[in-house]
Amino acid sequence: MARREQLAGKVAIVTGASSGVGWQSAVRLAEQGVKLCVTARRREALESLRTVVEAAGGECLVVPGDVTVREDVDRVVRECLARYGRIDILVNDAGVQTYGYFDQLPWEHIQRTLDVTCLGFLRFAHAVLPHFRKQGSGHVLNVQSMLSEGAAPLLSAYTAAKHATLGWAKALRLELHGTGIQVSNVLVPSVATPMFDHAPTQFGKKPVPVPPTYDVDLIARAVVKCARKPGRTEVPVFLQGSLVLWMDRVAPFVGNLILGRYGARLQTEPEPVERPEGNLFQPVPEGVGAYGSVPPTPKWKRFSTVAGLAALVGGVLGGAALGARGLARAVR
Ligand SMILES: NC(=O)c1ccc[n+]([C@@H]2O[C@H](COP(=O)([O-])OP(=O)(O)OC[C@H]3O[C@@H](n4cnc5c(N)ncnc54)[C@H](OP(=O)(O)O)[C@@H]3O)[C@@H](O)[C@H]2O)c1
Repeated sequence: MARREQLAGKVAIVTGASSGVGWQSAVRLAEQGVKLCVTARRREALESLRTVVEAAGGECLVVPGDVTVREDVDRVVRECLARYGRIDILVNDAGVQTYGYFDQLPWEHIQRTLDVTCLGFLRFAHAVLPHFRKQGSGHVLNVQSMLSEGAAPLLSAYTAAKHATLGWAKALRLELHGTGIQVSNVLVPSVATPMFDHAPTQFGKKPVPVPPTYDVDLIARAVVKCARKPGRTEVPVFLQGSLVLWMDRVAPFVGNLILGRYGARLQTEPEPVERPEGNLFQPVPEGVGAYGSVPPTPKWKRFSTVAGLAALVGGVLGGAALGARGLARAVR
């Protein structure tokens, strides 16, 4: 069973902290007494986060940097060690996505998505692990995605990056067995963050997450839970989490049919948006803080979807059972 860790006084580097999941996770970790070193490219956004954390009595060091630049990554680690003398947790969060059919995406977009979203995680872990080994303790906590296991159309490069980081994290966990260094993953569903205001699109229309969309604070709390009980793979929600993973195992054709037929439509809204490069190569000024322009799906809608699905599955199973009984009678 996973050990329960005391968080107060621990030191965490949080990447991708200028918005969304990274921002909110930093706020929630600081509430638990974790001392922060936050990084992303947008210095002003990180300074706003520092103001929020310090106003609540927390400690927060701002070190801007780009996760694709090894010198930046090393500098973040160095400055964190200089300020706090140790690093206990690396929250790997920085990520980008790019919307378009795979063969129509510019090749540079595919490379950059993988460089930020996959290699960014590996680069930071590569820089931090020697210190964890020296300490004989540490925790690599990766903000993954349901697309680390599944897939969505229009997001092939992002899906590839997320699958790769999950595979890497599994291998790393095996390598670090018995060293006192832990590896955790949070499988994040669609979340109402600014990611959809940042992402480039080839369609000239607003990209939106596959519904339902959850509140970002739910994920930040899952990050805190993982920080407390390291070494797990956390699935924070039911409908677009445990249920989807289970359905993918027992009836993969259902997800394939829904996302194959409707996936592209579900991820675009008619609202015109001209954002061919988004935040891939340069940060965009929009979308600072935890929340973006896409709101979370109201709870009642999520519950009625679960109830509808349960009725559908119950109906199908009931029908199949009745059919089987009728067939057995006919054979007798
Ligand atoms: N939102 C969702 O529905 C969802 C679902 C599943 C998983 N996730 C995962 O959650 C994580 C955070 O995403 P989010 O939803 O919070 O999106 P977001 O608000 O766009 O946050 C992405 C963060 O990554 C940073 N970043 C991007 N490129 C960078 C680079 N080259 N170097 C350094 N930092 C960079 C951004 O800051 P700067 O622009 O300031 O650099 C920002 O802080 C990602 O790993 C994503 O895959 C999100």
